[in-house]
Amino acid sequence: MSTRIYLDHGASTPVHPQVIEKMLPFWTEHYGNPSSSHAHGRSANFALDEARRTIARLMNAQAKEIVFTGCGSESDNLAVRGVMWAARKNGGGNHLITSAIEHEAVLETAVQLRDHFNFDVTILEVDEYGRVAVDDVAAAIRPDTALISIMAANNEIGTLQPIQEIGALAHEHGILFHSDAVQAAATTRWDMQKMPIDLLSFAPHKFYGPKGVGILYVREGVELVSSLTGGGQENGRRSGTVNVAFAVGAAEAFKLAQENREAQLAHYTSLRDQLIAGMMQVVPANEIILTGHPTERLPHHASFALKNMSGNDLLIHLDMAGICASSGSACKTGDPKPSPILETVGLDAAWTTGGLRFTVGSQNSPADIEHVIQTMPTVVEKVRKVSQLFSA
Ligand SMILES: Cc1ncc(COP(=O)(O)O)c(C=O)c1O
Repeated sequence: MSTRIYLDHGASTPVHPQVIEKMLPFWTEHYGNPSSSHAHGRSANFALDEARRTIARLMNAQAKEIVFTGCGSESDNLAVRGVMWAARKNGGGNHLITSAIEHEAVLETAVQLRDHFNFDVTILEVDEYGRVAVDDVAAAIRPDTALISIMAANNEIGTLQPIQEIGALAHEHGILFHSDAVQAAATTRWDMQKMPIDLLSFAPHKFYGPKGVGILYVREGVELVSSLTGGGQENGRRSGTVNVAFAVGAAEAFKLAQENREAQLAHYTSLRDQLIAGMMQVVPANEIILTGHPTERLPHHASFALKNMSGNDLLIHLDMAGICASSGSACKTGDPKPSPILETVGLDAAWTTGGLRFTVGSQNSPADIEHVIQTMPTVVEKVRKVSQLFSA
């Protein structure tokens, strides 16, 4: 067992050695600008096309439907803003449907479109498990709805959304459907010929690829107004010289993830279930709940709320014990405010600051999980004492 146990793969993952090996020549040998016409440019451009083809093949899509961006957030921004701006330009509707459980990359984009650009936005509520009801989506549809954006899986509580049904509903009404699949990219089998999804966001650093690159699938024929204008790279969807090394790394990481998917799923699910069962056993029943859906959840994701405790204090004590976890989404760590996601699923104030998320990865072992479970009572005891001190 390594001295530190990393259980925050939902925030980011180590880069796979095979991915690093694939990327290296694009800094040292094939460093040309892929838009240049000379030999160095052509070899970079060939690698870029190859990366696009690899990703497309693995999701039964076409290479021209793959856009490289700078991160998962940018993919979400480009999808949501790009479609809504294109709809406005073409007189194709002013209304966007999304949900209260989305990552900020979607939610804040939707709020900005509403508050600063006069789009109409419906933000759907979710049930106690964080699930969006397909009936609620149906009820929100209007003649001028241009886009429905519902995530594949939530980062903080792991709940999977019924994206197949929501996408089918969108298509029945001739509405485009975007899904933020940043957390679900590696563990889902994507088949874009069968799935009613028009735009799909991935972030390779969540599946053993590099940070600083995002992927956006855009179905052929879907128009986007680009937010990054300039030289017209990426088929006019995202200007700027493409980071060839990272695109190559993104493709290699996606390939490894998809090719080893079945084995990884079994490994993740078993560690996740061990962790959930262990946590429920060692923390008193009146002080812990499993957050998110009990079964319809990401295979590598175990999330909890601990009563009258601070998620940040839990993280600090876990960190001191050599365990890396998260209190929710990576962006929220270090922020003592109640979790909006835990509020959205209807938890009261006693629970909403005590979010704790463990996301397992390929290098974790059952022994790691057992160690976490054994450490937990001491951590909880320390945090409980601190919270009692402050509430006395
Ligand atoms: C569901 C979801 N969407 C979007 C993002 C943003 O991705 P990135 O950090 O690559 O911008 C994250 C990051 O944690 C996420 O979990």
